[in-house]
Amino acid sequence: MGEDSAEMRALVIYCHPDPQSFTAAVRDTVLARLETAGAELRVIDLYGEGFDPALSRTELQTYADTVVNTRGIEAHAAGLEWCDTLVFVYPTWWYGLPGMLKGWLDRVLMPGLAFHMPDAEHRLIRPGLTRVTGLAVFTTCGASWWLTAWVGAPGKHQLLRGVRAICAPNCRTAFAAHYLMDSSTPASRARHLARVAATVERLVPGRTSGRLRRLPFLGRRDGPAAGSARLAETGTRRQDGSDQDGGRRVQGSFTIAIDGPAASGKGTISRALAEKFGLAHLDTGLLYRATGAKVADGMAPITAAEGLMPADLERGDLRSAEAGQAASRVAAIPEVRTALVDFQRRFARRQGGAVLDGRDIGTVICPEAEVKLYVVADDETRAKRRFAELAASNPELTLSTVLEDLRARDRRDSERAASPLKPAEDALVLDTTRMSIDEAVEAAAAAVVARMPG
Ligand code: CDP
Repeated sequence: MGEDSAEMRALVIYCHPDPQSFTAAVRDTVLARLETAGAELRVIDLYGEGFDPALSRTELQTYADTVVNTRGIEAHAAGLEWCDTLVFVYPTWWYGLPGMLKGWLDRVLMPGLAFHMPDAEHRLIRPGLTRVTGLAVFTTCGASWWLTAWVGAPGKHQLLRGVRAICAPNCRTAFAAHYLMDSSTPASRARHLARVAATVERLVPGRTSGRLRRLPFLGRRDGPAAGSARLAETGTRRQDGSDQDGGRRVQGSFTIAIDGPAASGKGTISRALAEKFGLAHLDTGLLYRATGAKVADGMAPITAAEGLMPADLERGDLRSAEAGQAASRVAAIPEVRTALVDFQRRFARRQGGAVLDGRDIGTVICPEAEVKLYVVADDETRAKRRFAELAASNPELTLSTVLEDLRARDRRDSERAASPLKPAEDALVLDTTRMSIDEAVEAAAAAVVARMPG
């Protein structure tokens, strides 16, 4: 047993019909990592043991009878009573749990064992897995992260919200998924296994920040909140579709706010920092661009912002100069900004850390961000950069129209009353005019490292 994990007892519920599957490799990575951390392990291989997932009529009739309701599932019940860490490894099918695993929840999470039924005093069920202080999900999805999030990620939520609700109040969670499995490559799978190994670390007692451990189940500041409900579970991800909830270097929340005028280099720097530190990234300009595009299609601005869907952010025309202008026009409308605030704030404080780039991240969205950068460059340099980006897709574009466009947008963004473009008082101003991309990223990374916990 490792010193800092002396009490770690992990029950791994594994569910895949094919022993040669990538999910089996994920399971092995999880087990190897837990073993290295000194955990005691038990594995339940649902297909391997031919688990019957169907709750029978008799079982339903005796469901609440805590004397007999674990008959036939004794080993599973014993595992649940024994463990302090519960890990699920499975493929996501139809956005949810494989039937076999759903059946395991139905048949094994019994009253008296996993939770307590409502009684005269309590109207709600109460947690029974109160020894479980670590809960993790490792999965694969054929769909993209966006589509899965849009459907509501029922499998992930069933476990990390539903099952977590019956665990200890301070239960930590960890999650890693490989999306777009059907177009996965050896490289993306290898990257994912590395991410799985890093994510397992979050479960090891003593390697998680106190802040994360103290988070209560209810009232998490990154929990579901009112407003922007449709975008509540969305954000941007790395291009291979990998999920970074596992947090590779940052535990708990850690926000990097990057603001600045158009084409100053903030997007490039943000993406590079997200990649370097394993953080989630949100290009908030895209929210305004997508809103502006819907308005250009004839929708009212506030309706467009309030009803923003992940699919709206995937339109192919959002990067154009016209979309930029449309964005800056709707961005001056206070109600449009209000409709997008909650989503951005939740994204900013997500577990594992986040980078957001925009115009008002350090001043309005996240004034408490751990790192604030304000990225600038002179007008001509910015125009040249943007021209280089757009010229291929728009041969009619000229450098002078790009320059005009940027200046018009800067003016509108700086002069508007609602959340104008300006540096936060405590932001570090980074002038990238004479910097290469590498130099700018290095300077920004140095500012991040200086503020990173631990
Ligand atoms: O990439 P670029 O810097 O040209 O623009 P963007 O970040 O995609 O933002 C497009 C427009 O959205 C900006 O000109 C702003 O008017 C608006 N925006 C905003 O008001 N607040 C943000 N946090 C992000 C963008």
